[in-house]
Amino acid sequence: MNIKTTTSFWFAAFTIAVLSIVISFYIIPSSKTTTSIAINTQSGLELNFLKRVVKQSGIENFYSFLDQIVSGTTRRHHRKRRKITCDNTKWKSRLISDYDVSLVLTVDLKGCANFSSVQKAVDATPDGSLTRTLIIIDSGTYREKVMVRAKKTNLIFQGQGYLNTAIAWNDTANSTGGTVYSSTVTIFAPNFTAHNISFQNTAPPPEPR
Ligand SMILES: *[C@@H]1O[C@H](CO)[C@@H](O)[C@H](O)[C@H]1NC(C)=O
Ligand SMILES: *[C@@H]1O[C@H](CO)[C@@H](O)[C@H](O)[C@H]1NC(C)=O
Ligand SMILES: *[C@@H]1O[C@H](CO)[C@@H](O)[C@H](O)[C@H]1NC(C)=O
Ligand SMILES: *[C@@H]1O[C@H](CO)[C@@H](O)[C@H](O)[C@H]1NC(C)=O
Ligand SMILES: *[C@@H]1O[C@H](CO)[C@@H](O)[C@H](O)[C@H]1NC(C)=O
Repeated sequence: MNIKTTTSFWFAAFTIAVLSIVISFYIIPSSKTTTSIAINTQSGLELNFLKRVVKQSGIENFYSFLDQIVSGTTRRHHRKRRKITCDNTKWKSRLISDYDVSLVLTVDLKGCANFSSVQKAVDATPDGSLTRTLIIIDSGTYREKVMVRAKKTNLIFQGQGYLNTAIAWNDTANSTGGTVYSSTVTIFAPNFTAHNISFQNTAPPPEPR
């Protein structure tokens, strides 16, 4: 709450308190009549009186101002709490039937998939599998170094297009102690295939000497 809102809040509280006192004074003299008609009349009077006071004091505008603040705050809260929507149709793949895939794991950066990192998905695949495991990777650039060890057999990576899905890291021969260690994705396992995904090395070109 900023200063303006806080002041407004206390002003509103004060006004309401004063109004309540005024109203109670106004209705107490006739409060001994207990018939329902009298009560109804009282409520009507009370309401009219309140309306008149509100009009005269110009706090009608103030109330709409307060209302705006409150609804504004509510709207902001809604934006903050906005839920990400997960689209599960993107995990369909013709490779599942083409290769008689026995396990499908999904990866994305939004929290809608089984994993948020490609390496974690690879680690979760069964060792020495004789059947295919498909790892479907949503659009995005996955900044990680990926290693598929020899026992992770029959893996398939499938991205959402080589322009949309990328695994990127920036190692160099210098940073790793040899060009062979600087790769972004390293495959030691038999029968590995990848579709519609790019593997990038994003290290800047070496300085000219
Ligand atoms: C992967 O996610 C799908 C759908 O969210 C779920 O049905 C499946 O059990 C998950 N698999 C694993 C291994 O967590
Ligand atoms: C690799 O795939 C071929 C054909 O799909 C299969 O015959 C072979 O057994 C697989 N190799 C391994 C190590 O699973
Ligand atoms: C890779 O990128 C990170 C962050 O952008 C940076 O700190 C690091 O020095 C880079 N490594 C190389 C070898 O360029
Ligand atoms: C390689 O790394 C060394 C220190 O580890 C540094 O002095 C040198 O400038 C680096 N060379 C290049 C081309 O980045
Ligand atoms: C890869 O992308 C091309 C072009 O969008 C598409 O025709 C093909 O079916 C995709 N491959 C797989 C395995 O989804």
